Amino acid sequence: MTRIELDRATVEVPTDTGGRVLLHPTTLTLTERRVAVIGPNGSGKSTLLRLLDALLEPTGGTVRVDGLDTRHQPAAIRRRVGFVFTDPAAQLIMPTLREDVQLSLRRTTPRRQRADRATEVLDALGLGPLADQSVFDLSAGERQLGALAVVLAVDPALLLLDEPSTLLDLPNTLLLRRTLDRLDQQVLISTHDLDLAAGCERVLVLDGGRVVVDDAGPAAVQAYRRRTAERLLPGGRG
Ligand SMILES: Nc1ncnc2c1ncn2[C@@H]1O[C@H](COP(=O)(O)OP(=O)(O)O)[C@@H](O)[C@H]1O
Ligand SMILES: [Mg+2]
Repeated sequence: MTRIELDRATVEVPTDTGGRVLLHPTTLTLTERRVAVIGPNGSGKSTLLRLLDALLEPTGGTVRVDGLDTRHQPAAIRRRVGFVFTDPAAQLIMPTLREDVQLSLRRTTPRRQRADRATEVLDALGLGPLADQSVFDLSAGERQLGALAVVLAVDPALLLLDEPSTLLDLPNTLLLRRTLDRLDQQVLISTHDLDLAAGCERVLVLDGGRVVVDDAGPAAVQAYRRRTAERLLPGGRG
């Protein structure tokens, strides 16, 4: 398993009014095969994920993936880590999914094997019939699965998924869940799909840029539901 270590990792951004902390100093080690990050909009989930792929540098503390410091070894980290963005447009740049997957494979796979590997990956996600269609004609959910295919193609040791099911209908949500279940890779996923989160070995609940709950799937999801309900109750806290 890939070892993810945050040591007082902090993200602060400058603002007109002096600065805003997106992630308060956070120290934790993640080695579980399935980790979910849940929490309200704006709680810092994407910030945390982006730190792990060196898309974002901590402004304080350190972030290490397999001992590699994201600040000093971003290229080595990105060879191990695949990041699936919420917005598939960030990942799909070619006219068709097949071309995008083949482009992605240029990083890892000899030319003569790319076509077969692309077909294999696309078929596994049920995207075979859509592989050669213009991406502009695909539904948002189909594009989101396509973005996953692009990243899975190169077989990263650690897969980071930032709210990958927001655009998916029920069949595709279940397909995504089954696909993730079957993956050998380590998966860290930010999601609002609490059923998916409950199935994870470990779940971090973020709130206001802090990890407020760190527990096994079902317990953490229950704690998140309770916190949210308390906040919404008339006369409740917060
Ligand atoms: N570069 C930035 N400057 C200022 N605020 C930011 C910046 N990036 C993100 N934020 C804010 O930080 C908070 C956390 O963002 P994010 O990690 O994207 O939350 P989540 O993914 O949980 O919805 C949000 O309120 C967001 O608006
Ligand atoms: Mg986000």
